[in-house]
Amino acid sequence: MIVCSCNIVTENEIRSVITDLLNNDPWQLIVPAQVYHEMGKRGRCCGCFPRLVDLIVDTTQDFHRDMQSDEEVVIQFISRLKDKHQQCETARMLARHRIAKTHAA
Ligand code: FES
Repeated sequence: MIVCSCNIVTENEIRSVITDLLNNDPWQLIVPAQVYHEMGKRGRCCGCFPRLVDLIVDTTQDFHRDMQSDEEVVIQFISRLKDKHQQCETARMLARHRIAKTHAA
C-alpha cells in the first residue's frame, strides 16, 4: 500500500527502514524526516506524515515485542516517542504558519 504519493513509498518500505534504524539503535526516537532521509527522499507536501508517525509507533512497538523488551520500559519509551512527534508536528505547523504570513504580507 502506498503511504506517500509524492515519493511513491509503500508501507512495507517504510517499515523496513524503521526496523533497520531500530536494529542500529533500539532506543532512538525516530522521526519522519529521518525515515525519508534514510530512503534518500524528503517530505514534500508532508500529507503522509500522520500515517508515517503511526507506522513509526506501530513498528517500534512490534520491534520491542519481538525483542521481548521490558514492557514497562517500552511503554515509557513509546510515550516519549509520541511526545517527540507532537513537538515536531507543532514546529512544522508553526513554520507553515510563518511562511503563510510572510506570503500574505
Ligand atoms: S504524500 Fe508524502 S510528502 Fe506528500
